[in-house]
Amino acid sequence: MAKMIDSMISVTVADIEKYFETATVLKDWLLKDGYRPTLLTNQVLCTVWERPSLRTRVSFEAGMAQLGGQFLTLKAFPPASADIIFKEDVRDQASVLSSMCDLIMARVYTHGTIAGLAGSSTVPVINGMSDMAHPVQILTDLYTIWEKKGTLKGLKVAYLGEGTGNTLQDHIVGCASMGLDLVLGCPDYSKNELLQKLEFGLPDAEWVKEGEKRAKISGSKFTITNDPIEAIKGADIVYTDSWIAWDKPEEKAAAAEIKAIFDPYKVSAELMKHAKADANFMHCLPAYRGYEMTADVIDGPQSIIYAQAENRLHVEKGIMVELLKPLKG
Ligand code: CP
Repeated sequence: MAKMIDSMISVTVADIEKYFETATVLKDWLLKDGYRPTLLTNQVLCTVWERPSLRTRVSFEAGMAQLGGQFLTLKAFPPASADIIFKEDVRDQASVLSSMCDLIMARVYTHGTIAGLAGSSTVPVINGMSDMAHPVQILTDLYTIWEKKGTLKGLKVAYLGEGTGNTLQDHIVGCASMGLDLVLGCPDYSKNELLQKLEFGLPDAEWVKEGEKRAKISGSKFTITNDPIEAIKGADIVYTDSWIAWDKPEEKAAAAEIKAIFDPYKVSAELMKHAKADANFMHCLPAYRGYEMTADVIDGPQSIIYAQAENRLHVEKGIMVELLKPLKG
């Protein structure tokens, strides 16, 4: 059966090590010698977009081109010129796409859509972000931390701000897999009617449970605090993500109120003083200066956001090669 990467729950420690090893070789070859081995000649990647993307789309599509393969792009928006319509049963879509392509990468709103695609596809399906998971982002983040710090085990990651859904949830499992402590600093959602109405909340129990299982093996821990200083204290990595999904009308309409609620968790130079002196700032992008962090932090010397974004290309090339390698004759 083809390997599915629907969330970090489906990625083992051995998978992570294998992806990192291949990504490192491909990155070294590309950056030192400009060498682009055509390991995936004649293979076809289909990318499917229910939501917009810059980094995920460019990294997968450029990555496949660099590996000698082809890609095709199916967008579900705008409706008048959509290539794919999600009202069609995803099982039918998965069967058709996997009969013609070697790999499917999909960005969707609802995690169930990924499960539906993966359940009926005969080729690997990669989640390019759903409401619950963003595994390729987390694999890249861990790789970037490993490159920068030379290790993963024993480091402390402080995740500030919005703790609902995809990036944080997959970080819980990713950090636990590799032995990093993760602290979420976020508001008390139970005390806020607006956040409850917008379905902001704490991480899903399935990801927390899987994180706890892996943390027992790696010796790490995941904790939550409403105190931003306690969260960031002694951190090696300070991570944040956008507070508002701007393509969701209900969140866009409440942007001013959301901003006010999350403001204590904004990563500022003042807050960064509580992290380790050599701490790095990370953000998966897109970022909104003045919201989840101040401009002096994201544009300052501790920020590694562009290395992090560039690594999407190298890590995803490693993942694609590893997923498709057994298919080569
Ligand atoms: N971080 C990330 O997934 O970026 P895009 O939304 O631009 O793909």
